Amino acid sequence: MNDYNSIYDFEKHNKETFWLNASKSIDWITPPKIAIDDSNAPFSRWFPDGKMNSCYNAVDRHVLAGRGKQTAIQYESPITGQSFSLTYLEMQKQTAKFAGMLVEQGLKKGDRVIIYMPMITEAVISMLGCARIGVVHSVVFGGFAAAELAKRIDDCKPKLIISASCGHEPTRLVQYKPLLDKAIQQSKFKPSKCVIYQRNALKVTLKNKRDIEWHEAIDHATPAEPVALSANDPLYILYTSGTTGQPKGVVRDNGGHAVALCWSMSNIYDVKMGEVFWAASDIGWVVGHSYIVYGPLFAGCTSILFEGKPVGTPDAGAFWRVVEKNKVKTLFTAPTAFRAIKRSDPEGSFIKQHDISSLDYLFLAGERADPDTIKWAQGQLSVPVVDHWWQTETGWSICANPMGLEQLPIKLGSPSVPMPGFHVEILDDNGDLVADNTLGSIVIKLPLPPSCLSTIWGANNVFLEKYLKRFPGYYETGDAGYKDEDGYVYIMARTDDVINVAGHRLSTGQIEEIISGHPDVAECAVIGIADELKGQIPIGFICLYPNRKLSGAKICEEIIHLVSDNIGRISAFKKVIIIDRLPKTRSGKIVRATMVKIANQQHWVMPATIEDPSVLEEISSALKEQLFLE
Ligand code: COA
Ligand code: AMP
Repeated sequence: MNDYNSIYDFEKHNKETFWLNASKSIDWITPPKIAIDDSNAPFSRWFPDGKMNSCYNAVDRHVLAGRGKQTAIQYESPITGQSFSLTYLEMQKQTAKFAGMLVEQGLKKGDRVIIYMPMITEAVISMLGCARIGVVHSVVFGGFAAAELAKRIDDCKPKLIISASCGHEPTRLVQYKPLLDKAIQQSKFKPSKCVIYQRNALKVTLKNKRDIEWHEAIDHATPAEPVALSANDPLYILYTSGTTGQPKGVVRDNGGHAVALCWSMSNIYDVKMGEVFWAASDIGWVVGHSYIVYGPLFAGCTSILFEGKPVGTPDAGAFWRVVEKNKVKTLFTAPTAFRAIKRSDPEGSFIKQHDISSLDYLFLAGERADPDTIKWAQGQLSVPVVDHWWQTETGWSICANPMGLEQLPIKLGSPSVPMPGFHVEILDDNGDLVADNTLGSIVIKLPLPPSCLSTIWGANNVFLEKYLKRFPGYYETGDAGYKDEDGYVYIMARTDDVINVAGHRLSTGQIEEIISGHPDVAECAVIGIADELKGQIPIGFICLYPNRKLSGAKICEEIIHLVSDNIGRISAFKKVIIIDRLPKTRSGKIVRATMVKIANQQHWVMPATIEDPSVLEEISSALKEQLFLE
């Protein structure tokens, strides 16, 4: 039985057997006898009686099995010109020292550490070093501004923060230390120590008492052994955008996470021990957690850690150089990266200059993979291009085409079919199932499979409210779409105000909160509009108070800075339009969906409930003047 349908159905009817079998892919200190404990549903617990350690499974077990000399992490930085490897044995030594440092600093199981780092190997060592002794890590994407870091510090209250002197963007050096200092100044909670890795390009001055230099902290630490953890102990917290400015801390357990990721490595990505897997993402995102760090290392692969961009570091051949040099078998990135490559090298001339015959698959996720991009990639690479759909909350793909099991027909525009344990349904607003090919809210029947969020950090109520309340018995994904007659799922839009900018998940509500903080703004609305490269970009509409001193242009400029300073440049917020009034329904709701249609130059109809139709007409002409004629 190794075809997709049999395996999916088997799991559906034999959950315990399926997942207990899958659990054998990892090493347990106490193997579980129970797959799922649902006695406190909807707070399900996977492998509740199992004991294990994620760092041991990612590192030590491969050394003990005689593969210590194999490369665990291959570092490639076209920005700095650095390229080197770390073996499993080296990873074991370094994670043990890092964990020893944490012990010396007084950290113990359950304490939190924030990792605010660029794409350097020390970031991976920090994550695994925390996991080694049950310290819960929370990686904050290095592109986030101080205010975002401060919110996360206040929410998860880390005893320690790990950071670096700088990161490298293609055209500039990103100084982390001033951002870190500002965040700690802003946050109510103060970590007792910061460990700072000094990169060659920038050596920063450390603050007495609070800051310790990486080598000083770690080099003489006594190595710590992996500790036995319950499968349900939290491994990490990863914050993601919701509908407000307060990010949600997705909590991931240890056991279910390891089991699901191991299952995915062989069955979805078709990689085996010793093979080379590359997720061209950032460790600050869930893709980086699951498929730069944990998944490939659990599976004993070589994982590529890449500090660069698909284009501009130095050219659109960056990916192919790395694939050729390291004989990458499976590449995983976001569609936006391929749109950038296609735009810069439409004929694929860089691809032809390299031997990429090692490459068997390209996986895409993070945003909708448009059929044009998929077709271009298929034509250029001559390998299956596999769209798959998942979220920070799930940690692995809800829908995919499982290349290691069976290659199902690829349907353009669909991330294919649900993976075992994800029982996907499409519901209408009343919570009733809809017919095939009918748009609705995409939900997953409870219980969720292993590796999905166990709760929101410190906020069980938010977990219940945001994900489980609207459709009882189901997890609400926040995505809208449909299923076709073959069970293929199509993801069409978000049902909330989350937008996806170059694979980064942002909340328009959060941007609105920031803009509203400007003293001259009376009201505002932010929408995501289609962008050829980034998928979506945010634009803002503002209504100003009459008695303002600044010019409209100056206010727009200040607002753009405000958003960039609060979220970071990844927000790509560069356009603000001043209007007299926002278009609202008679009950006061801003008609954002219609505004998006107008901005995207799609067919739109005047909503029947609109309070004043002339406002939409005004917006339509403002957009014509300011967007389409540029
Ligand atoms: N630290 C500091 N700043 C960062 C940063 C980081 N880690 N990552 C991005 N930024 C900045 C960039 O310098 C850029 O600033 P600018 O607008 O002033 O030039 C801004 O944030 C936007 O960056 P990015 O989203 O990377 O867009 P880009 O225009 O520089 O490049 C792509 C476009 C398509 C090449 C790029 O978005 C890409 O490689 N995407 C891959 C998607 C991905 O990894 N998604 C993760 C989920 S799978
Ligand atoms: P994140 O939590 O940042 O990974 O973002 C998850 C969201 O990105 C999903 O809820 C979708 O809206 C979107 N997304 C991820 N993968 C896909 C995909 N393959 N197709 C369409 N949308 C996707």
